[in-house]
Amino acid sequence: MSKVHDVLVIGAGCAGMRAAIAAFDQGADVALVSKIHPVRSHSGAAEGGINAALGNASEDDPEQHAFDTVKGSDWLGDQDAIEVLCTDAAADVYELEHWGAVFSRDESGRIAQRPFGAAGAPRTAYAADITGHVLIHVLYEQVMKRGIFTYEEYFAWRLVVEEGRCVGVICWDLLNGGVQAISSKTVILATGGAGRLYVGTTNAYSCTGDGMAMALQVGVALKDMEMMQFHPTTLSPTGVLITEGCRGEGAYLLNSESERFLKDYAPKAMELASRDVISRAEQTEIDQGRGIDGDVLLDLRHLGGDRIRERLHGTRELSMVFAGVDPIDDPIPVRPGAHYHMGGVDTDLWGLTSVEGLYAAGEAACVSAHGANRLGGNALMETITYGRRSGKAASDAARELPAAEVSEAARADAGVQIKALLDRSDGERPHGIRDELAQTMHENFGVFRQEEQMLEQGRIIERLRERYQRVVVDDKGSTFNNDLTQALELEFLIDLAACMIPAGVGRTESRGAHARPYDYPDRDDENFMRHTMVTKQDGELKLDWAPVRVTKWPPGERTY
Ligand code: FUM
Repeated sequence: MSKVHDVLVIGAGCAGMRAAIAAFDQGADVALVSKIHPVRSHSGAAEGGINAALGNASEDDPEQHAFDTVKGSDWLGDQDAIEVLCTDAAADVYELEHWGAVFSRDESGRIAQRPFGAAGAPRTAYAADITGHVLIHVLYEQVMKRGIFTYEEYFAWRLVVEEGRCVGVICWDLLNGGVQAISSKTVILATGGAGRLYVGTTNAYSCTGDGMAMALQVGVALKDMEMMQFHPTTLSPTGVLITEGCRGEGAYLLNSESERFLKDYAPKAMELASRDVISRAEQTEIDQGRGIDGDVLLDLRHLGGDRIRERLHGTRELSMVFAGVDPIDDPIPVRPGAHYHMGGVDTDLWGLTSVEGLYAAGEAACVSAHGANRLGGNALMETITYGRRSGKAASDAARELPAAEVSEAARADAGVQIKALLDRSDGERPHGIRDELAQTMHENFGVFRQEEQMLEQGRIIERLRERYQRVVVDDKGSTFNNDLTQALELEFLIDLAACMIPAGVGRTESRGAHARPYDYPDRDDENFMRHTMVTKQDGELKLDWAPVRVTKWPPGERTY
């Protein structure tokens, strides 16, 4: 038998690396698989901070954090998952600090915390506006210190499930070419989100939902896939993230009439309302003709140059490089853009999926700590807390499981499929299909949704899928064949977009990110305090429902 790991973590962003560290520290033989270098992972783009009730800036406690998160989730989050997150958060942040994370400091030297949207207290610990960047470097140091092996530039393509148990993964070796099988007693999916489903997104080109799509293929349910979050401040026109930390520091949002329009939508919280509320407000202003070329303006000028240079230097650089705007002197043009998938691979509180040996953590997963709308700063926290928990759970499980190997038949079958794709010489190039998917998702499944548009998008996706059957890869080479992997990623994206349609159409209410102002403008707790669960059975998508787990917060009014 060739090498069989105890724990194989697919994806090496914050969730993946934290999972690998936890598994290693439990004594497991653990390896990471990543299609890019770990410190290039998209976690590095999480700018504004990480939420924990440290209580440094004001009175705060895990219970208040949990309530804000439940309310932010529009009561779709599973409250036991939220309580775990908020209870474990402080210790997890201090551990990162002790590992060397250079958090910004307050005057007394404690970790500084800034206000973020829909949080009742300044709770977001930060490292200026490059928090994710700092955290992935700290985690990578810990990975290297432990000598955890990384299959770097390995593109994970197919999970292998044999006799009901996940036994490893089939990868394409980007550096050398060729199909490789990696066997492991347990596998953790930590591949992040699928923001590339949309044309306007904060997400890196690598965010193609690989883990979600692989889990779907092996029969695991994808939960709440209609819940794609639109971040209110993405730079026009590129979609680069302009952090919520700007508003945490006091920036204003203005319409074409130089009005702080949030007074009409969230009069108490204003720019610090939740993301879904602000994105809808912006889109309404833009749709009603009070935008500026499809944007609104984020005004930081009153913060002053010193504060911008100290706490928002990354934002300033991004604005100058990508939009030619120095926020010290001029407002930044921003618009809502796809940012974060609250939905994902259905897991329990330890990251376990419905398939033995298969776990998920971070944005790829849906333990449902975010429900219908995630609070800014809770994603980094989730990567750490649930990354750690899944690493521990997988290593515990691996101790009890016999070694099992990916069969030669599974590897050979994958090789035949990839060869067939590479051998095809006539057909359509992938990028046209990918662009059309992203453009139409934006038009038909955006900030506001309507039944007919979502159904039309479903038909578009099926036509794109037919075209995908004839897709052609021009590059026939074996070294860094990104042409090939982009074609494989496109299939993942098509599969995930298809899952969003029945979930979106089936949820005949408005809740969090799923806003249907024209046909179902209200939240309907009686019928829809339930998760959508989409599975693939015999090639067909099937929609089921699962109850929301409520511990102590019955549904209430959600105003800001
Ligand atoms: O705006 C931001 O800095 C993003 C943070 C987050 O999505 O948690």
